[in-house]
Amino acid sequence: MKTFLVFSFMFNFNTLLRTTECIETDQVLSITPKTQEQVDILKNVSTQRPYGNLLPSNSSKRRPRSTYSFLVLLPNANELIEMQMRNDSSDPRGSTTFYERYHTLDDIYFWLNRTQQDNPSTVKLILIGSSSEKQPLYVLKLSLNDRPNKKAMWIDCGIHAREWISTAFCLWFVRHSLLFYSQNPDITHILDNMDVYILPVMNPDGYKYTWTTNRMWRKNRAVSKSSSCIGVDLNRNFDAEWCTVGASDDPCSEIYCGTFPESEPESQAVAKFLRRHKDSVQLYFSVHSYSQMLLFPYSCTLDEADNHNELLELAQHAAQKIRRFYRNTYKYGAGAKTIYLASGGSDDWAYNLGIKYSFTFELQDSGRYGFLLPPSYIPQACNEALTALKTITLKVIEKTQAPTGPPPAD
Ligand code: ARG
Ligand code: ZN
Repeated sequence: MKTFLVFSFMFNFNTLLRTTECIETDQVLSITPKTQEQVDILKNVSTQRPYGNLLPSNSSKRRPRSTYSFLVLLPNANELIEMQMRNDSSDPRGSTTFYERYHTLDDIYFWLNRTQQDNPSTVKLILIGSSSEKQPLYVLKLSLNDRPNKKAMWIDCGIHAREWISTAFCLWFVRHSLLFYSQNPDITHILDNMDVYILPVMNPDGYKYTWTTNRMWRKNRAVSKSSSCIGVDLNRNFDAEWCTVGASDDPCSEIYCGTFPESEPESQAVAKFLRRHKDSVQLYFSVHSYSQMLLFPYSCTLDEADNHNELLELAQHAAQKIRRFYRNTYKYGAGAKTIYLASGGSDDWAYNLGIKYSFTFELQDSGRYGFLLPPSYIPQACNEALTALKTITLKVIEKTQAPTGPPPAD
């Protein structure tokens, strides 16, 4: 059966006028709507379909006609998807190439346990809740010393199921921290001064579903009371101008906000944990893909955050570093003006909770492969994000913490 598989979830009007991407059978197309009618049709294709975004090919009304301009971006997406799933678990879990691959949910749970067991004095596993299908939500706590009153940062990955590079980044970050502590001065300074809480898979049910059934799934897998459509967009489910802009109250939408703020066990677990730790957590990072952006609040309003200029400067520094080291371009700015207006996001919520350094990173790429970023891109994509994260964190430590180390002899 021929199908269209629509990638895009950007259906705020202005964004839709840009580009929407589809898969036809095993092709990824990029379609640019030219009229309002076309915008509406694409909007339906991408938001209204149950069971992911599958459309039977005989719905010719919705097929791109010659009046649409479209480009074949990936002529063989199925092959690409198979390539990404190949060889999982054939590598010993400690080897370097382990981190240069994507992994199943079961493999990630195994890795979490192993990482804790191999580093019993520095790594703790904290169970913060469970998903709607009762998968555990584990946070890794990295704590390299027991200085009193140490500050902390939070990193979550995989809030959106199909953004595999995001979860790969969380694993990459942990490896980098454990391997290069006391060798690389930046990570050493960071870990000397901060604990790190890392949630590698915030949406385990969705992530599993992308491995078994639909590679393009975004939401969690919650069953709705009012509809046969599945899933809530966890990044529309937080209590930040909840469900007002760039979110939908339709359970079939890709940006469904849920029935009330924190209605989902995954977002509630994160929110509860951060509320409990808000006095120590100084920095919040949420990792997504794709589009190469370093975003900060607000996304739910066009108003500027109190420390907008400070956040802008931090993001700008980080983007400059990425450009210099990796010759790659990242846009940066407040979410609402840089990507789109969207309420209910975790970054805005964390910011309003009092975590004044709150960021969402959109990793590689800028559209060539989109969510289907091949494994060979993992190292550079993760190193770019690592550079940004370290640049921002070092500056925040410098701004907010008294210098550590031996007191000067007088
Ligand atoms: N692509 C992300 C999303 O749609 C961007 C998140 C930016 N922050 C936000 N609060 N909307 O969720
Ligand atoms: Zn995302």
